[in-house]
Amino acid sequence: MTQRLDPGSPLHNFRDDTWPTRKDSMADAAKIAASGGGQYAQATPVGYMPGFGNDFETEALPGALPVGQNSPQRTAYGLYAEQLSGSPFTAPRGANERSWLYRIRPSVQHGSKFGKTALPFWRTAPSLAEHDRPIGQLRWSPVPIPKENLTFLTGMRTMTTAGDVNTQAGMAAHIYLVTQSMQDEYFYNADGELLIVPQHNSLLFFTEFGKIEVEPGEICVIPRGIKFKVELVNGPARGYVCENYGAKFTLPERGPIGANCLANARDFKTPVAAFEDKEVKSRLTVKWCGGFNVTELGHSPLDVVAWHGNYAPYKYNLRHYSPVGAIHFDHPDPSIFTVLTAPSETAGTANVDFVIFPERWSVAEHSFRPPWYHMNIMSEFMGLIYGVYDAKPEGFTPGAISLHNCMLPHGPDKQAYDHATKVNLQPVKLTGTMAFMFETRFPQHLTKYAAELDTLQEDYADCWAPLEKNFTGSPS
Ligand code: FE2
Repeated sequence: MTQRLDPGSPLHNFRDDTWPTRKDSMADAAKIAASGGGQYAQATPVGYMPGFGNDFETEALPGALPVGQNSPQRTAYGLYAEQLSGSPFTAPRGANERSWLYRIRPSVQHGSKFGKTALPFWRTAPSLAEHDRPIGQLRWSPVPIPKENLTFLTGMRTMTTAGDVNTQAGMAAHIYLVTQSMQDEYFYNADGELLIVPQHNSLLFFTEFGKIEVEPGEICVIPRGIKFKVELVNGPARGYVCENYGAKFTLPERGPIGANCLANARDFKTPVAAFEDKEVKSRLTVKWCGGFNVTELGHSPLDVVAWHGNYAPYKYNLRHYSPVGAIHFDHPDPSIFTVLTAPSETAGTANVDFVIFPERWSVAEHSFRPPWYHMNIMSEFMGLIYGVYDAKPEGFTPGAISLHNCMLPHGPDKQAYDHATKVNLQPVKLTGTMAFMFETRFPQHLTKYAAELDTLQEDYADCWAPLEKNFTGSPS
């Protein structure tokens, strides 16, 4: 799709004072809803382009983007042309991802002399022997946001690591606790892409490709190698992050479902070009194979005036996910709720799946409706963004975390079991709820931080203890 901006457009200048605010977007949404657009209707917000993996093009200054070629002898505005490749050059077309960036300085000038730095709470796989806690089903209450100054980098807290970053396989699950915006401070991650799941308050990601604002109920994905900074919008923020070391997230196949439902491509939003032309002392931190490196700059590296290509960050409103489920009896596997999947080399065996449990109707007849009891080769890290989770009405509150690792049994607690087996089954709407799961083929190893966290519920596994032996020896 093409996004060429008229020079007279208010989008022409992307300085902070003209950036459309969240209030503007919400006012737009309210107008659409009032015009009969439906409960969740929201046109593509100002500053974004719709689609998943499109060949986008966008320019923040008119004529900045070359026409008909990637690398002209001289570019408009004296910009440097630079390619950012997210896949090997020779990847098949369907998996080939790259973008061309037209920027004030080439990336080679965004720091060359690096020093080592430490972010001790941001851990990377393999990180196997950090504690001696035995296996078990684990759950943590929400971690309070502390008073101390924490940015998106210093406030990152790794809960689990899986796989091996050196083989570009596996993932890490983090929480973030942010009380301070990044000021003249920038970051990129060579180890993987970041899938950010806000749970409390919004975040503004100013990336090389443009600005993305996300609030609880939305997610943001920043691919490997893209520079960005993170600002607070409406106060201290908390949320979850999946750091995916493997192949990029993509949309799952739909099989017999057909061409629609689940996550639809048009609901993914990629930002239009925006840049800073700032000559100030800055820092750029780079995460590379689990280590952190820092360099000093005399300018902002967010200096991309125009870009085109299919390797770019994006956001998605989870409330636009159209779930498909049981309409007569029984309960399909939770894979029906997959929003994004990062495949591995083995078909159907995800490096990591991002799965949600959104608002939906529950209508199955003569069926046990909550998630059933099970054991699984995959490892499941769950969080709750808002509302109540149907398998665990208590103890799993918004901001909480649970971990059900490879081949550890889990399922509904006593309260959920009793309700599900005794209730007179009528269609029921599960309203105002949004849980999610990072599910990986690799065992998730607990960090020392997670193993010793104050909010760990030591009595979690007791939730299954009250389940009675109901066996009578007779079929009734
Ligand atoms: Fe499970």
